Amino acid sequence: MDNYKENLDIACQKFRAILEKQLARVEDMKSQGDFTDYSKLDVIKIGVCGGDGIGPTITAEAEKVLKFILADLEDEGKVEFVTIDGLTIENRIEKGKAIPDDVMEKLKSCDVILKGPTTTPQKGDGMPNIESANVAMRKALDLFANIRPVKVPEEGINWVIFRENTEGGYAVGSSGFNVTEDLAVDFTITTKQGSDRIARLAYDYARKNNMGRVSLVTKANVIKTTDGNFLEDCHKVADLYPDIVTDEWYADIMTAKLVDKKRRRDFKVLLLPNLYGDIISDEAAEFQGGVGTAGCANIGKKYAMFEAIHGSAPRMVKEGRAIYADPCSMLRACVMLLNHIGYTDRGAKLERALDICSFEEKKITVTGRDTGATCSQFGEYVMQTLKNL
Ligand code: IPM
Ligand code: MG
Repeated sequence: MDNYKENLDIACQKFRAILEKQLARVEDMKSQGDFTDYSKLDVIKIGVCGGDGIGPTITAEAEKVLKFILADLEDEGKVEFVTIDGLTIENRIEKGKAIPDDVMEKLKSCDVILKGPTTTPQKGDGMPNIESANVAMRKALDLFANIRPVKVPEEGINWVIFRENTEGGYAVGSSGFNVTEDLAVDFTITTKQGSDRIARLAYDYARKNNMGRVSLVTKANVIKTTDGNFLEDCHKVADLYPDIVTDEWYADIMTAKLVDKKRRRDFKVLLLPNLYGDIISDEAAEFQGGVGTAGCANIGKKYAMFEAIHGSAPRMVKEGRAIYADPCSMLRACVMLLNHIGYTDRGAKLERALDICSFEEKKITVTGRDTGATCSQFGEYVMQTLKNL
């Protein structure tokens, strides 16, 4: 490498710019206020964006059910649904932005968002290298907690995964670079403020829901600084919750223990940095019937966004199977949305209806193919079940 010194200088400048941005983010976190109090809002604006692939199909079904549950409040003008178009891969490529400006403006005009999965370009697929819309939205709206419940009642599984959502490998996941032809780097980031705020939310949740145990999952034995700090900051929060048992796991053994039928029912709340949370939540959802059955809440101080834990499944669309997509992930996300804005009775009702339809009565099931019910047949089934509750 002849120009290695020059490359090194360029790399150092890029690294400096990354650090400056992250330091500014730390200052932002320090100056943030409290969580939005939805009971104080005259109108709660719910933004709905369909996304890509199977996104529009399952989001439309979830919106239908949500509107059914909130019909009286919509009539009274206490909740308002806002359709947000333009969060499609075609539009994002055309505008050259993970989230086009007009879409971002609309998102920010809402209090909570119901979002369908979006397609993420990746290296080698011929699409421009734009950041994932999910990741961009989580960062732009500072949705720092990704909460992913998983339950399999007959196995005694009731886990709630608290995935840190704005840091780790995701914070600057699109800002890695090739230093030389041979050397490439990416970065992982942990801040004291970032770890503290997700840990507080997880411990609070464990206490309020009598879950009694929080398991911290890292690879602090290898990724010593960032994972090490995450662990240390979580322990500081744990000290404030002496009523809750805290234990520590490495991410690899945790993936193994989740398939251990004797041990896995002991887990309650899992608290993890971003990337481990991403991986372990897919594994966890598989026990419940697959990622198609799992929804999540992305919570920040000012905004909150609710979505499926899975991607846009372009293959299903290509094979003409979008109509057979499972709306459960988005419907579970709606449960979390209702709870978050304070309509916990309605959230509990929808959860009950979903449990009846998915685990108990199972009059119809969605298989993702023509061997099962369509997305809208299942949505209809949930609404009929709700009427009888
Ligand atoms: C998720 C998804 C996203 C993530 C992808 C689509 C970028 O897998 O929400 O878990 O990695 O966070
Ligand atoms: Mg994922």
